[in-house]
Amino acid sequence: MSPWRHHFPLLRARDAVAYLDNAATSQKPQVVLDAMHSHYREFNANVHRATHQLGADATEMFERARATVARHIGNRKPNEVVWTRGTTESINLVANCLVPSLGPERDIVVTTMEHHSNLVPWHMAAERTGATVRAVPLTASGELDMVALARNVSDRTCVVAVAHVSNVLGIVNPVRDIADITQAHGALLLVDGAQAVPHLCVDVTGLGCDFYAFSSHKAYGPTGTGVLWGREELLETLGPWQGGGEMIETVRLDGFTPQAPPYRFEAGTPHIAGAIGLGAALEFLESLDREEVLAYESRLTDLLRTRLDELGGVQLVGSATSNIPIVSFNLEGVHHSDIGTILDQQGVAVRTGHHCAQPLMTSLDLPGCVRASLSLYNDDSDVEKLVKGLGVARDLLL
Ligand code: ALA
Repeated sequence: MSPWRHHFPLLRARDAVAYLDNAATSQKPQVVLDAMHSHYREFNANVHRATHQLGADATEMFERARATVARHIGNRKPNEVVWTRGTTESINLVANCLVPSLGPERDIVVTTMEHHSNLVPWHMAAERTGATVRAVPLTASGELDMVALARNVSDRTCVVAVAHVSNVLGIVNPVRDIADITQAHGALLLVDGAQAVPHLCVDVTGLGCDFYAFSSHKAYGPTGTGVLWGREELLETLGPWQGGGEMIETVRLDGFTPQAPPYRFEAGTPHIAGAIGLGAALEFLESLDREEVLAYESRLTDLLRTRLDELGGVQLVGSATSNIPIVSFNLEGVHHSDIGTILDQQGVAVRTGHHCAQPLMTSLDLPGCVRASLSLYNDDSDVEKLVKGLGVARDLLL
C-alpha cells in the first residue's frame, strides 16, 4: 500500500479502480479540497478590487498562493508568476505576446514529441507572421536528438519550445543543455512543465529557461488553473494579450495603459479558489520527502516495465527509460482502444489514442498506443491489475 494513498478521498471511495491515468489528471488530496471549501465558505470575495475586509482576506490568500508557486519552482519572485487556465493557456499567452518579434526571417523551434498545446499555438503564431516552425526529431531510441537541435537553432531563432517531460515517452529532456544552445543564439526558451511538476523538484533558475508553463490539475491541484512563470525583465517587455478589468492602470475612451506584470496578463476575475487549491497542492508536495516519492515512483515504473516484459508481446513506445512513471505501449495484434475498453471493464483506467501528440505518433508510424501513468498513490497491486487486464484483453481479442 502506498504510504500517501490515504490523503486522497476519491481513492477510498473508488477503491476497486486502478487509476493509471495520472498524466491526464491527478486525484486531489484532502488538503486541496479543504483549502478550496474553506475559500468558498469563509473567504469568498473578488480579489484586488474590494474595499471591504472580505476582499482583503481573499486577496491575501490568492497572493499567498502566488508566492507559494514562486517558492516551489526555485525561490523566484511572486511577480514572475502569472495565473492562467493551464499549460495550454500559458503557452498561448507567450505565443501571442511574441508575435511582434516574429516574421518571415524568424524561426520557432519545437520538437517532434511535443503535446499539441506546445505545437498549435506556435503554428498559429507562424501563420500570422510568416515565421517558420522547425521540428527537432528524436533519435532511434526515442530521445531528443541534441545534434539535430543544435543544427536547428540559429540566429534566426526567436523561441525554442520544449517539453520538460514527454507526456507519452516519460523521458526527461536535457533542458539545461537546450538552454545553453538557445542562449548562445540569443533565443528564448519556453519549457512545458506539465508532466514534470508532479514528479520532479523544478528549479527554473537552474534549468536556465525564460518561461516555464504548467497546470495545476496534473500536480494534485484543481482543474482550470495553471501557471506561466517568466523572467521578470522579460515579462516587462511583453503583452498585454487579453484585455479587460484588472490588467489596466488606466482606461480612457481613446486607449488604455496596462498594469505591470503579472497583472497585465490577468484580465478578468481569476480562478481564485483554483489558485488557492494549487497553493495547497504544492504545499502538500513540499510536506513530503520528494526523494522518497521519486524513488517510490521509480521503483513502480521498473516493476511495470518488468511485468510488461514478462507478459510478452508488448511493444514499448520508445526504448529510452527514465524514472518518471509514464509508460506507453502496444500489445501485438490488438488495437489500443480495444485494450482501453477491456481494461476499463476490469477497473483499470488508462489513456489510449494519440495522447495529443499526433506528430510523435506519425514519426513512430503508430496509429496510437496505451499509456499507463502512475502516481505516488499507486502501488504494486495497481500494476498487477493492469497486467492481468492485458492478459484478459489478449485472450478475448486474439
Ligand atoms: N495532456 C494530458 C495527457 O497527456 C491530457 O493526457
